[in-house]
Amino acid sequence: MSKTIAICNKKGGVGKTATAVNLASALTRANKKVLVLDLDSQHNATQILTPTGVKLTQTISNLMENADEANVSECIYTSEEGIDFIGSSSRLTNTEIAIAGASFRETILKRLLMDIEDNYDFIIIDCPPSVGLMTLNALSMADGVIVPIKSNDFSSLDGFADLIKYIKIAQMQINPKLSVTGILLTYYSPTTNIAKLVCEKTESITSVPILKTKIRLSTTVAETPAVRKTLFQYKPNNKASVDYQELAKEVMELYGIKETANGCG
Ligand SMILES: Nc1ncnc2c1ncn2[C@@H]1O[C@H](COP(=O)(O)OP(=O)(O)O)[C@@H](O)[C@H]1O
Ligand SMILES: [Mg+2]
Repeated sequence: MSKTIAICNKKGGVGKTATAVNLASALTRANKKVLVLDLDSQHNATQILTPTGVKLTQTISNLMENADEANVSECIYTSEEGIDFIGSSSRLTNTEIAIAGASFRETILKRLLMDIEDNYDFIIIDCPPSVGLMTLNALSMADGVIVPIKSNDFSSLDGFADLIKYIKIAQMQINPKLSVTGILLTYYSPTTNIAKLVCEKTESITSVPILKTKIRLSTTVAETPAVRKTLFQYKPNNKASVDYQELAKEVMELYGIKETANGCG
């Protein structure tokens, strides 16, 4: 049975997209079948996953705006590493307005993917930096939420407690199976005091788990949007690639999914 994980934080620049694409890539390398949904109008995940020379003609907007007639498989593309994805574009801002008056608007995505979700081991959702209708659609179908927190910036904890409350309300109101998979500390420099302070503060203000894996600060990660590659395509031996591999293992363990022999290298 497929597991859906939303990567969510209403702050931008905390490592949501980096986590969505590189976790998806690491899971694919562990022989898991993965679908990435890009729910951010900035479409950074789409840019990284779209194979060179391919032009996306169908995006998540085509699906969500015409949910009754939509053909989901027509909107699924496959990255060079074999990750399936449904992309987005700047049109997604209009989509959010277009669906605002629709009945049951917070579960459009869940209904759209119902028939295909079991084709996958994992569905990873890259959420926008807000808690609007797109994030609510992600939370209404997710099993878990990973909340990246930038561990070299104390202000990244602003609004964090509210976000956790919001996820809990979503769980009570629309999706009883939803839980926080864990807080993921990103941009982590183990020897710095700021990382220690952010880590301690995070632990003190929430009862939700902090993932064992931390993603280290690496300028190589910041290069990947420029070269439009995942870390594993670009620098598979980089320290952050190693961390994302560890994260994939931890996530598989948490969801009771066995690791299988490495097929894609
Ligand atoms: N561990 C890291 N070390 C260094 N740079 C990172 C790290 N994680 C993400 N970045 C870079 O920081 C920028 C913002 O990250 P991104 O994943 O796009 O954040 P978000 O999706 O939360 O807005 C991107 O250029 C990204 O490549
Ligand atoms: Mg992003």
